[in-house]
Amino acid sequence: MIAERPRYLADRPRRLRATSAIRDAVAETDVLPRHLVAPFFVTASAPGPVPGMPGVKRYSPEGLLRQLEAALGAGVRTALLFGVVPDDAKDFAGTKAADDQGPVARALRLARREFGDEVVLITDVCLCGYTDHGHCGVPAGGERFAIDNDATLPLLAEMASAHAEAGADLVAPSDMMDGRVGYIRERLDGGGHSGVGILSYAVKYASAFYGPFRTAAGSAPGHGDRSSYQMDPRNRREALREALLDVAQGADALMVKPALAYLDVMAAVRAETRLPLVAYNVSGEYAMLKHAAAAGALDEPRAVREALLCMRRAGADLIISYHAVEAAARGWLA
Ligand code: PBG
Repeated sequence: MIAERPRYLADRPRRLRATSAIRDAVAETDVLPRHLVAPFFVTASAPGPVPGMPGVKRYSPEGLLRQLEAALGAGVRTALLFGVVPDDAKDFAGTKAADDQGPVARALRLARREFGDEVVLITDVCLCGYTDHGHCGVPAGGERFAIDNDATLPLLAEMASAHAEAGADLVAPSDMMDGRVGYIRERLDGGGHSGVGILSYAVKYASAFYGPFRTAAGSAPGHGDRSSYQMDPRNRREALREALLDVAQGADALMVKPALAYLDVMAAVRAETRLPLVAYNVSGEYAMLKHAAAAGALDEPRAVREALLCMRRAGADLIISYHAVEAAARGWLA
């Protein structure tokens, strides 16, 4: 005689949560050091701590080597480099962005010499850290303040070429100009760099979560904001349009940025492309967790692991995170 039981107790999902071993056996997602990309600010002029981002510093090209060594030691083999130059090196067109003696180019050559192909080197390609107005492209004349899309493309391509020349594996345009992936691809191919890939910041929103980064890179716009080129946070269909355009123009991998508040977008883009997908866990997201942990409001290792896992669950292959080396080195991922 089988005991009667209510129909609503026929299914018991808790069986598969009973022990840590069972949970591990059926887990659908994980995050490993190889999934993480460590971002670094490189400067020849102003090394030191970044206000608002506890634990994050700007490094000289030479100083970066020790950081890369630590990252490699923790199993994080991919780095994303941002250049920081002093205000007096900035001009209207961001000329120094393509300087082969600039901090990023120097860091690339040093790192390649030191670590060979052990490390994957990606560089951010954008003018905002090099322009005196702080915009990601060159302003057009005229009453309505606007950024001149087509006049910006050759400048980005120059910058990308300089990084390719200095040893980048991938260049990552973050400016959000139309057509820049195709334009940069053509320039790289024409310059003998058909082997250098493009990680496109395809889906990049005009976000308040970039605040600490702009302090770190000295790249805040002096006039206006970035809403005429970065995406409107209200839009998701548009993300698919941007992603597919960049696929068509030859991108090798796509990024969605920011990450945490945009995981629905990540999942939607994942469903539309076969390219590797990268989440950018941005500076403001890092700062939120650091400050909340410092205030005793949450357990940092657990919160970081959960946030990174959720980005993976949403479809990210790789995650750029300021927590990358710390999380991997301190065993927060396990
Ligand atoms: C450059 C760039 C930005 C970030 C990455 N590349 C700043 C911006 O668009 O204003 C933000 C990264 C972060 O917040 O961690 N355009």
